[in-house]
Amino acid sequence: MKKITIAVDGFSSCGKSTMAKDLAREIGYIYIDSGAMYRATTLFALQNNIFDSNNEIDTSLLKELLPSMIISFKLNPETKTPETYLNNQLVEKEIRSMEVSQRVSPIAAIDFVREEMVKQQQAMGKNKGIVMDGRDIGTTVFPNAELKIFVTATPQVRAQRRYDEMIAKTGKADFNEILKNIEERDYIDQNRKVSPLKQADDALVLDNSSLTIAEQKEWLLQQFARVA
Ligand code: C5P
Repeated sequence: MKKITIAVDGFSSCGKSTMAKDLAREIGYIYIDSGAMYRATTLFALQNNIFDSNNEIDTSLLKELLPSMIISFKLNPETKTPETYLNNQLVEKEIRSMEVSQRVSPIAAIDFVREEMVKQQQAMGKNKGIVMDGRDIGTTVFPNAELKIFVTATPQVRAQRRYDEMIAKTGKADFNEILKNIEERDYIDQNRKVSPLKQADDALVLDNSSLTIAEQKEWLLQQFARVA
């Protein structure tokens, strides 16, 4: 079976990561969560006081410091899933915080940040056998990917899933705050100048609003079998 490149794009909190991660594990491919890279960059910006009190970004300082930022992924030996490291510190939990979620889309809209991330993502995928999820994977990072999936679900369904996830993990969450964050990120992601979130012409659309994880997985494996 030939190795291919799989791009999974779509809106925030539509279950892309879970689905891409499961698929990669099932077919023995590398999985890369490109959103984690923008989240780690946001955490790096927070650590280096790149946001002022009005959340304005000091882009020249960020540009100057960016070469000292190293993002890497290592497999957790127990869960067998990749975890995000920022300058050799495990940051998987920190990058999922509301503090980061609220600031990540403006960081991801900066041209030199995207340029650097795309370069690193393309290097990770040069040998194929990779599933990468994000917003611009099928359009910009791997425009020649053999399989492109564009995932979508209603904002309410997505907010409910994120709410349930946060309640399960931390015991507290605010549904309205989550919904507002999802809608704001959708807007910024779709309207930014550099590689906005948009369905690639040759992507297959998957609306998973009313699909179970098992149904979704079955559909994905069928698409993979058709192409690989
Ligand atoms: O996928 P996740 O929701 O964790 O991504 C966090 C944010 O990173 C998104 O809201 C988006 O602003 C940005 N992102 C992006 N391009 C990608 C992946 C994520 O702009 N390929």
